Amino acid sequence: MHEKTLAQGEKQAVHDFWERAACGEELYLHDSGRQGYLEQARRRYELEPYVEQFAAFQSARGQRVLEIGVGLGADHQRFAEAGALLAGIDLTERAVAHARRRLELFGMSSELEQGDAENLSFADASFDLVYSWGVIHHSPNTPRAVAEIHRVLKPGGTARIMIYHTWSLVGYMLWVRYALLGLRPWMSLADIYARYLESPGTKAYSVAGARRLFGAFSAVQIQTQLTHGDLLESAAGQRHRGAFLSLARRIWPRAALRKFAAGHGLFMLICATK
Ligand SMILES: C[S@@+](CC[C@H](N)C(=O)[O-])C[C@H]1O[C@@H](n2cnc3c(N)ncnc32)[C@H](O)[C@@H]1O
Repeated sequence: MHEKTLAQGEKQAVHDFWERAACGEELYLHDSGRQGYLEQARRRYELEPYVEQFAAFQSARGQRVLEIGVGLGADHQRFAEAGALLAGIDLTERAVAHARRRLELFGMSSELEQGDAENLSFADASFDLVYSWGVIHHSPNTPRAVAEIHRVLKPGGTARIMIYHTWSLVGYMLWVRYALLGLRPWMSLADIYARYLESPGTKAYSVAGARRLFGAFSAVQIQTQLTHGDLLESAAGQRHRGAFLSLARRIWPRAALRKFAAGHGLFMLICATK
């Protein structure tokens, strides 16, 4: 009973964080008309060009697709445009409202509802593809979310899931800022991600940890990706600002990091077959 209440509290804290502003809303959505959403999508795919290839939007035509954690709905719109038979959920009312409005403005539709990755309302074996970009590491019980993805996929169906990678430049920077300069060098990277990256309790995984997480799937391909956050090429999330970051941004050795730290990106792209 006590554990259940604790888990509900953790989930509520995740909900409250993303209900205040959906992912990228403060930085990249300047009006919620067609033009605002188009501009947000332009900025998203400029900063994260690898989304396109990973999501393989075009190959979703005629497929039954579930997106978990739709956020502002840019990827959801791409699946709809590609002709997917689409459903989407998000933990927050705010994200669902954005995605609904976005699709309506562009004359498209999807079964969108507020929902929890850990308790999906869909029947077993309902989808050809489950897609989720940067979501299930925020949920308190990530293994349960992965089990739900496996359950709702048809046999032979594909999961395309991005979660955070532990050994990342973003993690090291946050560790220097909050552990070393905060005189708490004993803090682990896990503590750092949980407390300082985004919503409280955010997790990251090693490649081996991700393989274990997706152990029920038959074929699992994993690659890590250096991001605009690792390379300090963007406004770095909703939580981090200030002189330390401005200075780092000016002196950041991007070319050397691309060459020598290519395996230390924050994003881990997982493609798995049920
Ligand atoms: C970093 S944002 C990513 C949103 C979107 N996929 C994107 O790439 O912009 C994380 C999203 O995950 C959602 N989320 C967190 N935990 C969830 C859960 N248990 N079930 C469904 N959505 C969840 C949040 O509400 C938030 O919209």
